[in-house]
Amino acid sequence: MRSIKVNLDKKLSSSYEICIGNAILDRMVLLIAKNHKAGRHIVITDSNVNKLHGPKLLAALKDVGLNVDLIEFPAGEASKNINTAVDIAGKLLELGAGRNSLLIAFGGGVVGDLTGFVASMFMRSVPYIQIPTTLLAQVDSSIGGKTAVDLPYGKNLLGTFYQPQAVFADLSYLTTLPENEFNNGLAEIIKYGIIDDAKMFRLLEDNMDQVKIKDPVLLLKLVEMCCRIKKSIVEIDEKEQGLRRILNYGHTLGHALEAQSNFTLSHGEGVALGMIAAARISENSGYLESSSRERIEKIIQKAGLPCRINNNMATEGIISRLKMDKKKEGDIIHFVLLKKIGMPFVNGGIDGKIITPVIEGMRE
Ligand code: GLY
Repeated sequence: MRSIKVNLDKKLSSSYEICIGNAILDRMVLLIAKNHKAGRHIVITDSNVNKLHGPKLLAALKDVGLNVDLIEFPAGEASKNINTAVDIAGKLLELGAGRNSLLIAFGGGVVGDLTGFVASMFMRSVPYIQIPTTLLAQVDSSIGGKTAVDLPYGKNLLGTFYQPQAVFADLSYLTTLPENEFNNGLAEIIKYGIIDDAKMFRLLEDNMDQVKIKDPVLLLKLVEMCCRIKKSIVEIDEKEQGLRRILNYGHTLGHALEAQSNFTLSHGEGVALGMIAAARISENSGYLESSSRERIEKIIQKAGLPCRINNNMATEGIISRLKMDKKKEGDIIHFVLLKKIGMPFVNGGIDGKIITPVIEGMRE
């Protein structure tokens, strides 16, 4: 098992470990029993993850002597709302949970964000641990303490920054992950290569076939590399005042496309298209060489992610969604652009007139 420490500013949050490995259940529960003592441990999970892995985790936690219960909610983004958060808080009260309880988020991004959200507010906050079971959650959403629920106006609009006490990423959970879920994580892995690590980008270019068949040694290496990149960004900018924004490379347009498609496009598909658009904007603005933009498009295609925007999505609709982005300041939409692969910067504001031809140039 590999371990990475996230060192945070003591005035803001406590530091914590990310533990990564393959089939680490036995060691993980021992570590939870030893280092994360609490009166009650309550696993929060969704119906899919519970069916596949819940009983085994619960039994393992009980075997090491913990007083443990489980709360399940229906799987899917539709559950990521304030009503589910209130339901979970009610169930916690029914189970007799209090300030001395510890929550365990067991699942993908929805479970992690929702559990963190509840943990940050239940009884004015209780600690929580992340056990991410999807590739996206293992390389991104379980690290860094972003918690949220969606509002009818958009995704993640109500949330907090609240760091977990530990993250345990067990890659054996990826064997049951559907292809589209795996691709959501793969888009984020490609993003890390683009924004921070030209060597990792090259590794992906040379080994995408092995990644696609989930080669365990390669995946372990990649997940660890991504966690190290994310942790070093979060350490510098925990509350997203500046540097952390580079993690949103491809996400500004990606989120707009996801919403404009009525979420028929997955997060990873939206981000893949957004990453291509951001590379094209970078090239058109004279920052990025065309050979680098071509490499970005090629790797996304090789990963089996989309490179073209469906004609059903009207350009004006996409642009007006961009204007609702929660990361905008006033009317300015911040785009993360590139000078090179591995060298991003946050642009001071992009005009719709620059984005429109890029969207049109990516049509099917
Ligand atoms: N997923 C982007 C971030 O954690 O900042």
